Amino acid sequence: MGRFPFPIPFGWFCVAMEGDLAPGDVTATKYFGRDLVVWRDDDGVHHVQDAYCPHLGAHLGIGGVVGGAEIVCPFHAWRFDGSGACTNIPYSERVNKKARLRTYPVLLRNRFVFAWYHPHDIEPQWDLPQMPEVGDPEWTDYYSSSYVIRTIPQEMSENGADPAHFKYVHGTDTIAEVLTYDTDGPCSTMLSRQSYVTPKGVEWGKIDVYNHGPGFSRVFFEIPGLVDAWNLACTTPIDDDSTLVRFNFLVQRHASAEFTETIAKAFVKEINKQVQEDTPIWENKTFLPVPALADTDGPIVKFRKWYAQFYADDALVP
Ligand code: FES
Ligand SMILES: [Fe+2]
Repeated sequence: MGRFPFPIPFGWFCVAMEGDLAPGDVTATKYFGRDLVVWRDDDGVHHVQDAYCPHLGAHLGIGGVVGGAEIVCPFHAWRFDGSGACTNIPYSERVNKKARLRTYPVLLRNRFVFAWYHPHDIEPQWDLPQMPEVGDPEWTDYYSSSYVIRTIPQEMSENGADPAHFKYVHGTDTIAEVLTYDTDGPCSTMLSRQSYVTPKGVEWGKIDVYNHGPGFSRVFFEIPGLVDAWNLACTTPIDDDSTLVRFNFLVQRHASAEFTETIAKAFVKEINKQVQEDTPIWENKTFLPVPALADTDGPIVKFRKWYAQFYADDALVP
């Protein structure tokens, strides 16, 4: 057992941005505690598979090449298709039907490449939304940043259900007020109000968090008159105690492009500062299965009950 009493959750997790690979590209990566190969076939279709060739174990992401709709192993040139089947052994008349590569379902949404991870290889159980703001000229392109943090996605996500820490860790003016917290299958929604100190004085804005499983959330921020922004945030477990988080901000444009850019940059910088403030807490805290809460704390217990559905191995959930 590692630092946290949880296995890796199942769900859709971002493994690349759509522009990261051109057709024909192959990359080695590591998520879910597994070595993976991510490749794009000559038709532009993305594939995510276990890295190790079932023949004699070569790493397909290191020296493997794309040929049409197949990946070719660098060791003895066996070919595998996007379903994981061995399609050709160049020095044999027959293929080996038992030689299969574990293959992860792939979903493209919002210019992210998501792979479906389930420890028992169960089929995807929900979809992810496509946001109309992505590619809309009324909105900016992504302002993106990413961090590797020594924690698990659940602990990072719990931050959203913990309004009190914003004042003490992030120095916000007041404690955000949670208006509603609702769950619906793999989705959860928390609507809250937050006060901001703006050039015009203290203004009440919104922070609305929409989670779609453990790997993707949409957070809408409103600071009246200044910022309407989405953060499309992806958390991907690297192994059982480290996580890659990708923040991708879309900011609604003002009439002046210059003003938009100034505001967007200041806003994105502030949220990125918040991640850096959270990091030492996340990297050093322990997980308390039975926390001692204040009656004015956020919906932490409800959040944890909702999140528990993403752990396949019930025995590990406290
Ligand atoms: S190890 Fe891949 S073809 Fe032999
Ligand atoms: Fe935080």
